[in-house]
Amino acid sequence: MYKIAIIEEIHQDGINLLEQNSNYEYEIIKDVSEKNLIEKLPAFDGCTLRVSKLDEQILKHCPKLKVISRHGVGYDNVDLKYLKKNNISLLITATANAVAVAEHVMTMFLSLSKSVQKYDQEVRDGNFKNNAKKIKTIELFNKNVLILGFGRIGKKLIERCLSFNTKVYVYDPYVEKKIIEQHGGIKVDSINEALKISDYVSLHMPLTEETKNLINYKIFKDMKKTAIIVNTARGGIINEVDLDRALNENLIFGAALDVFLNEPIEINNPLLTNKKVILSPHSATFTDECTSRMGIETIKNIIDFFQKKIDKSMLVKL
Ligand SMILES: NC(=O)c1ccc[n+]([C@@H]2O[C@H](COP(=O)([O-])OP(=O)(O)OC[C@H]3O[C@@H](n4cnc5c(N)ncnc54)[C@H](O)[C@@H]3O)[C@@H](O)[C@H]2O)c1
Repeated sequence: MYKIAIIEEIHQDGINLLEQNSNYEYEIIKDVSEKNLIEKLPAFDGCTLRVSKLDEQILKHCPKLKVISRHGVGYDNVDLKYLKKNNISLLITATANAVAVAEHVMTMFLSLSKSVQKYDQEVRDGNFKNNAKKIKTIELFNKNVLILGFGRIGKKLIERCLSFNTKVYVYDPYVEKKIIEQHGGIKVDSINEALKISDYVSLHMPLTEETKNLINYKIFKDMKKTAIIVNTARGGIINEVDLDRALNENLIFGAALDVFLNEPIEINNPLLTNKKVILSPHSATFTDECTSRMGIETIKNIIDFFQKKIDKSMLVKL
């Protein structure tokens, strides 16, 4: 019998899998304070994890813990060094969420292009067509898209962009030209040159020392004034202060952010009052379908792990 801690609630479809399997007992832990996790977690053999932090302070109290199953693909909330040293495996929901994020990016590309929020406000303000013609709207058709990072999400996004008859450039130094071409993209080696010719830019790489503040004021100055940029990857890759300035100085047309340097975003962040950016609360995966898929995959990964048949693509190499 394995004891599994569900840290923060997940979709019932995932829980059902555990309930159907007599080898597992589970408990849902809603209080994710360090104190409560230190008290509760030592009793468990495995756990699921959403956004709360599992660091050495907590993990050192958990000698039984063999596996952490992330509900998602990022793992900057887990102490990887500690996991490696103590032989604790880390699993991700590698196939569950790419489509939902790619659809979120398309939603933002199109909403910004068509100035959906401005038109909506005009109608509500009783202006109907009075100002409508002055609101600039553009088309995705025939434009240059740049995808930064060509992993699971980048590959789903390119399919959707190509169906809008765009030319898609891809910047990912770790993916071969051949793979990018097989997906219909054009590999670029210079991110700076690619950004200069791009109409739509979407970020899909991890936050690392290399990618921190990658998109900054100097880059915005070189971009097209009509460019749209969307970040669903991680906060900190686009410098938020520089983005606010670039939008105010009309260096680019618009932006959308699902992720922020600090989450939740601080109430004095100037982006909150900037009308040229659409904000969402790290919710790109919150579709009904994706939430169910993620719940199921998070639990299936734990079961597969204990049955020693975990798919390698779900296992993070530590
Ligand atoms: N907003 C959300 O809810 C949400 C959901 C899922 C994933 N994410 C984030 O989206 C990002 C992409 O997720 P994924 O599942 O596609 O990841 P992935 O690991 O499949 O792909 C990431 C890609 O980034 C590339 N990369 C690494 N460093 C790079 C660099 N310096 N420049 C360009 N490319 C680089 C890698 O080669 C890889 O191909 C991650 O940051 C992830 O945390 C966010």
